Amino acid sequence: MSIKIGIIGFGTVGSGTVKIIFDNQALIKKRLGCPLVIKKIAVRDLSLPRLVSVPEGMLTTDVESLIKDPEIQIVVELIGGIEPAKTFILQALRAGKHVVTANKAVLAEHGRELFQTAREHGVDIAFEAAVGGGVPIIKTLKESLAGNKIESLVGIVNGTCNYILTRMTDEGLAFQTALEEAQKAGFAEAEPSLDIDGWDAAHKLALLTTLAYGAEVKLDDIYVEGIRHIEPLDLAFAYELGFVTKLLALCRETEGGLEVRVHPALISQDHVLASVRMAYNAFYIKGNAVQDILLYGLGAGQMPTGSAVVGDIIDLARHILAGAQKFPFLASQMTELSKTRIKDMSEIVSRYYFRFSALDRPGVLSKIAGVLGEHEISIATVIQKGREEGGSVPIVMLTHEAQEAAVQKALKHIDQLEIVTAPTKLLRIEEG
Ligand SMILES: NC(=O)c1ccc[n+]([C@@H]2O[C@H](COP(=O)([O-])OP(=O)(O)OC[C@H]3O[C@@H](n4cnc5c(N)ncnc54)[C@H](OP(=O)(O)O)[C@@H]3O)[C@@H](O)[C@H]2O)c1
Repeated sequence: MSIKIGIIGFGTVGSGTVKIIFDNQALIKKRLGCPLVIKKIAVRDLSLPRLVSVPEGMLTTDVESLIKDPEIQIVVELIGGIEPAKTFILQALRAGKHVVTANKAVLAEHGRELFQTAREHGVDIAFEAAVGGGVPIIKTLKESLAGNKIESLVGIVNGTCNYILTRMTDEGLAFQTALEEAQKAGFAEAEPSLDIDGWDAAHKLALLTTLAYGAEVKLDDIYVEGIRHIEPLDLAFAYELGFVTKLLALCRETEGGLEVRVHPALISQDHVLASVRMAYNAFYIKGNAVQDILLYGLGAGQMPTGSAVVGDIIDLARHILAGAQKFPFLASQMTELSKTRIKDMSEIVSRYYFRFSALDRPGVLSKIAGVLGEHEISIATVIQKGREEGGSVPIVMLTHEAQEAAVQKALKHIDQLEIVTAPTKLLRIEEG
């Protein structure tokens, strides 16, 4: 008796998965009660060098025969992207195979179809590795916190952005320099836009919001702002004011609907997420029964992500061995993926950081404050010092709570004043 699996994709995560299964073979057998056997691994190019050596004949380019192999009970999709990953997953589900995937993009964009197909064929899709790499956020939401109403979930879910922002804050590096450093260190892709423009975080947040709130969230529903526009000057001012700047992915139940957004934000230096540095990820969840939970760890990489994939494989294998059916479930029933209202960004209420660039003249501050006052935005702190290139002065303000719509209107007005020399920089302040 053994459980046989087929893996599609033998890159970073595929190699980690295979290495863990080989290295921990005895341990896995002890935990499972039988061996976990990799029967086939599908790749695109058989001639490429591999990070882990495998027995001859194990690699193939024939994905279809791997999926159809009657001995293979679990298909592990680790190629990424939408197509052909979506087709392979659907083929595996229709063939009655459980699927394990690390592919947040395909789940965020086609989750309903994939989970529906799995349900129709009495099999499951496990996806712990799709969010947070090795950090067990999916099972935490689906299982451990199933008895809680989730009040909020705030995550640092993109290691690339966190690495860049940490280096910019610590060393005053410009964004482009920090990005290049991240690429050299292997923390950023050669084509980094998915990460730095916030879309990777948005894919993950869509999945997390579905799990936390039973809400079907499309990418279009999420406000997404990346970190390209962040300047070291703002990180330095923020730090001086007692904050650090992080790219946050958050969902929160509020009166009037769910807030679901990804953007850089200032958090207090004593916030639990403030010490999440470099490529680390963290999830800070408030449940109405459990109170506060913090999960922390490496959100990507060969072995951490492989760890989550292998955990899912073992979980499914246990169900197969027990003869139990395993249906997909997203913390809520599919039929309950309700039409929860998602708030438009203009409706949110937050505190704000502004940096105005203005002429060094008397009366400038009162003019800006006057426009803010007209829009019912009240100022909590002001600092003005130094001089920018060209003779303008930076004026930094922190506000009390204000509505985003009013803030946008006020800044539009302020940026048209002749005393203002460059578009105002805005960062939101996240409390709690
Ligand atoms: N890298 C991470 O740290 C990380 C973390 C969390 C989640 N993920 C997710 O894990 C998944 C895999 O990422 P990765 O970084 O491991 O990717 P990767 O290093 O680029 O590896 C992709 C693998 O898929 C194979 N492949 C691509 N298209 C194929 C096809 N049509 N048929 C057969 N094989 C095909 C490639 O084959 P060849 O080797 O022959 O080219 C390669 O082995 C993605 O969904 C990603 O978002 C990655």
